[in-house]
Amino acid sequence: LSTRVAIIGAGPAGLLLGWSLRQAGIDFVIVENKSREYILGRVRAGVLEQGAVETLQRLGVSEGVDARGLVHHGIYLQSPGLRHHVDFNELIGRTVTVYGQQAVVRDLEAAHDAAGSAVFYEAGDVAVRGIETRSPSLTFTHDGSDYTVEADFIVGADGFHGISRPAIPNNRLTVFDKTYPFAWLGILADVAPSTDELIYALHPDGFAMHSMRSNSVSRLYIQVDPGDDISNWPDSRIWDALHTRLASDGWALNEGPVTEKSITPMRSFVASTLNHGSLFLVGDSGHIVPPTGAKGLNSAISDVTQLSAAIVTHYADDSALLSSYSDTALVRQWKVQQFSQWMTDLLHVRPGTGDEAAFDYRSQLGRLDYVTHSLYAQRSLAEQYTGLPLG
Ligand code: FAD
Ligand code: DHB
Repeated sequence: LSTRVAIIGAGPAGLLLGWSLRQAGIDFVIVENKSREYILGRVRAGVLEQGAVETLQRLGVSEGVDARGLVHHGIYLQSPGLRHHVDFNELIGRTVTVYGQQAVVRDLEAAHDAAGSAVFYEAGDVAVRGIETRSPSLTFTHDGSDYTVEADFIVGADGFHGISRPAIPNNRLTVFDKTYPFAWLGILADVAPSTDELIYALHPDGFAMHSMRSNSVSRLYIQVDPGDDISNWPDSRIWDALHTRLASDGWALNEGPVTEKSITPMRSFVASTLNHGSLFLVGDSGHIVPPTGAKGLNSAISDVTQLSAAIVTHYADDSALLSSYSDTALVRQWKVQQFSQWMTDLLHVRPGTGDEAAFDYRSQLGRLDYVTHSLYAQRSLAEQYTGLPLG
């Protein structure tokens, strides 16, 4: 096979990049090592920045998000007993949309199916070759046959555990990372959300959040120990923790059947470059954020928007954007990193019981009080949560 752009990974980044290239008439192939069912079974992100929704609209894949996305004007920030609404729309005239990553992926798959795109699922032994040349290739097995895809560019949209970032020689890549002494336990429950907009809560027992997927499905999270095991958390214990941590006068949390639950570690990670030779990285293959600011999926969409524009102008005889893709994307990414770290530090309780932990908790309450009472701080939060400009 021969194509212009060979994309590794059919997550949101890979599928959206392919779709965007298709709109520009640029040939591509997508190779994914998992099955569709597996990918659609993974519950992940839920909040789209306004710019991410506009990207889907511009690319003609917004029917689902336009029909079923829930437009939110703000979020609630909470400390014990005090719940404040931060109204992004009133503050800066911008909004976010609650629409699950699985729904984004489903919509993109349907668009590719209808267009007859070349997407290989359940590929084996995916490997890249010749990324330091102008004629790189991708090899894999599929349905018992060996394939080689010759391309102008390889794009690693294969997530944090993929093969593309490790294909960059060690002496050309530095990684910056940070782990956190806590994790998120997340559940999906078949119950109408008990809130109109997301609640992010700081509580002495740990962070808790109330999100949603639709008017009949709730998504909830609690901070747990990173070494904790999901088997220690029967549904009743999870609901008890949620009731305690989300408590607010005159408000009640509705319970429903739990349909999914898992624990996700939290990490910040940035690769020093998103480009080596003919290989370009987008999304989680190049960077990871802790989930508190809802930025993982949105960053993937932002990378794809930039890389797609760069590839399109390259074929129109101007490679400047492609040469600067990594730098441009990383400038935005580091702003997103600091925001995600800030949201995480604001709302999570450091483990430990000493003087320092007591100090930190009170300092966090002070910061939360500042954020919820300063117009400047709220505007800054609104600007970052609804999404920095893509460029
Ligand atoms: P991915 O979605 O990881 O897609 C990469 C694709 O590449 C996958 O389909 C994978 O199977 C495929 N692949 C991997 N290796 C290979 C290979 N060798 N060959 C071929 N294909 C390969 N973000 C939030 O904002 N909020 C959240 O609540 C949230 N929850 C999360 C929970 C979990 C468990 C995880 C892992 C992430 C979560 N994120 C969340 C982050 C968000 O989901 C990611 O940022 C987003 O999925 C990034 O998209 P991507 O396409 O770059 O990577
Ligand atoms: C969801 C996930 C997040 O990380 C977040 O900040 C808000 C919502 C969610 O899964 O709905």
